[in-house]
Amino acid sequence: MSTIILGIESSCDETAAAVCKDGQIINNIIATQSIHESYGGVVPELASRAHQKNIIPVINEALDLADISMQEISAIAYTQGPGLLGALLVGSSFAKAAALALNIPLIPVNHMQAHVLAHFIEDPKPEFPFLCLTVSGGHTQIVKVTSYLEMEVIGQTKDDAVGEAFDKCAKLLGVGYPGGPKIDKLAQQGDPNKFPFPQSDIPDLDYSFSGIKTAFMYFLRDQQKKNQNFIEENINDLAASLQFTLIDMLFKKLKKATKKEKIKNIAIAGGVSANSGLRKHLQEEAKKYGWEVFIPKFEYCTDNAAMIATTGYYQFLEGKKGSLRDSPLPRMSFSS
Ligand code: KG4
Ligand code: ZN
Repeated sequence: MSTIILGIESSCDETAAAVCKDGQIINNIIATQSIHESYGGVVPELASRAHQKNIIPVINEALDLADISMQEISAIAYTQGPGLLGALLVGSSFAKAAALALNIPLIPVNHMQAHVLAHFIEDPKPEFPFLCLTVSGGHTQIVKVTSYLEMEVIGQTKDDAVGEAFDKCAKLLGVGYPGGPKIDKLAQQGDPNKFPFPQSDIPDLDYSFSGIKTAFMYFLRDQQKKNQNFIEENINDLAASLQFTLIDMLFKKLKKATKKEKIKNIAIAGGVSANSGLRKHLQEEAKKYGWEVFIPKFEYCTDNAAMIATTGYYQFLEGKKGSLRDSPLPRMSFSS
């Protein structure tokens, strides 16, 4: 008999469902919430309401496309956290109710662990151990991965996530939300060395991205005092220089981590890993340092349920199940 896992993701502003059959992803359905664009960022209450509206149609679509009935599902995997509490509650409540009604196991999944395991959705899959630079709107981590479910955060941001730095600086440039992809596009036409922005360096393998956001804001303010059209006239170079600085900061610590851990299998994950500059730089560094690199497909970088279903599958195989009594509060650590 096949093992069929329904994966549900609702941690932020994507309502997503995916079906995984014997470890293979059959489909990956995502409803993106465009309502947040006009606010320049995710509004938690609006996100929860949009999840409520989208969750049943998204799950029905995933099951219908896979030609699978609710009764055929072996277990339901859902994002337990981290994420927005009201948003998480929509996914977890559906998962718990369905698991109870169908009398099947419930599998709570850590969202950041799932971003790492997105590498096991399709070939080529990394060999253990590998390091994963997990970069999203809420997190920036260097993770040492020793098996499907054994992973350790060996470095992380002490304040803002790198995606937040992309989004907030994009807001200062007035290019809209989410800012990461907009900066990425503008940067392709710009000079990365035009404006050298300061980089903060904190001890060990940790990051700090709050300083660059402030430096960027004051730099724009000072330049605009001299020239009101400074942003419009330099938009591509500003985007390219900012992106260059953020990528450089990410790679300084990643290189330190590869030396410290003596690991040359390197993966990237999370929404910011969709950045074309970061992907290109990873390939260049791989050639220089003899790394073997793993870059997921775009659709598996940003939030999706295929990664939740895949993680749920590995947890299911190990007998790691949850219960209806599990807290709706996000799990902050993913050590198994
Ligand atoms: O993983 P994700 O979809 O959601 C979270 O778990 O946070 O990541 C969203 C983040 C946002 O900050 C968004 O601006 C950023 O990923 N992002 C990008 C790109 N595409 C998405 N940042 C830079 N370049 C991109 N192409
Ligand atoms: Zn994410």
